[in-house]
Amino acid sequence: MALSDAENRIPRHIAIIMDGNGRWAKKRGLPRTAGHSAGAEAFRKIANYCRTLGVKYLTVYAFSTENWRRSEAEVSGIMKLLANYLAEALRDMEKNHVRFCFFGDLSRLSPDLQKLCRDAQERSSEYHEVQVNFCLNYGGRDEILRAIRAYARDVADGKKNPAELDESAFSDYLDSAGVPDPELVIRPSGEMRLSNFLPWQTVYSEFVFMDVLWPDFGPAELDAAIEEYLRRNRRFGGA
Ligand code: FPP
Repeated sequence: MALSDAENRIPRHIAIIMDGNGRWAKKRGLPRTAGHSAGAEAFRKIANYCRTLGVKYLTVYAFSTENWRRSEAEVSGIMKLLANYLAEALRDMEKNHVRFCFFGDLSRLSPDLQKLCRDAQERSSEYHEVQVNFCLNYGGRDEILRAIRAYARDVADGKKNPAELDESAFSDYLDSAGVPDPELVIRPSGEMRLSNFLPWQTVYSEFVFMDVLWPDFGPAELDAAIEEYLRRNRRFGGA
């Protein structure tokens, strides 16, 4: 891989919208759930590859607050893939040293899946090599509203003074508290929109949109996205 001279500029945090599973399946005459299965495989490979590259945080959009509109069979298929993955991650935890975190309102997930999420988060909390953030029943606007409610409760309880609220203090109320903003957001599948993914955290992220469908996304595609990112001139509003 041709990035060794730029290794110290590898993004610390990469966020990915894993899009295109349905179209990948349709092209092959397969059910949509087969596309999600292939998408879960692509995720496994990319998570491993991120670790070898030294990426510290990988955030993936696995299920949005809007995805409940899909058929019962598709929703339960995605939930099953997530449960299988987390059970496997819990089994291999001591080998892989991946820290798991979850963004989103987990209360709508099944009690079994909630428990897997809780166990994965708790049992991996001491690992610091690489952190995977799963966005599950996640919506950026929902995240901001939940943060505002929590903050308002603290104001009502006399713990916070609105005059002291700044961006950093507000960030502490978000699901992503303590996680640096992603430098790079990747959306495969040809769609070019954010779809309620990390709106607060991505105000200065670099976006790379790619034509490949997520199940076909592998290390070569990640290399290409990082190379594109490294060509960008990031000014953060400065001249
Ligand atoms: C978007 O593609 C994808 C999703 C809504 C689900 C993503 C879930 C996974 C990749 C599996 C999760 C499991 C693990 C272990 C990460 P789409 O279905 O909207 O594709 P389309 O736009 O082509 O229909």
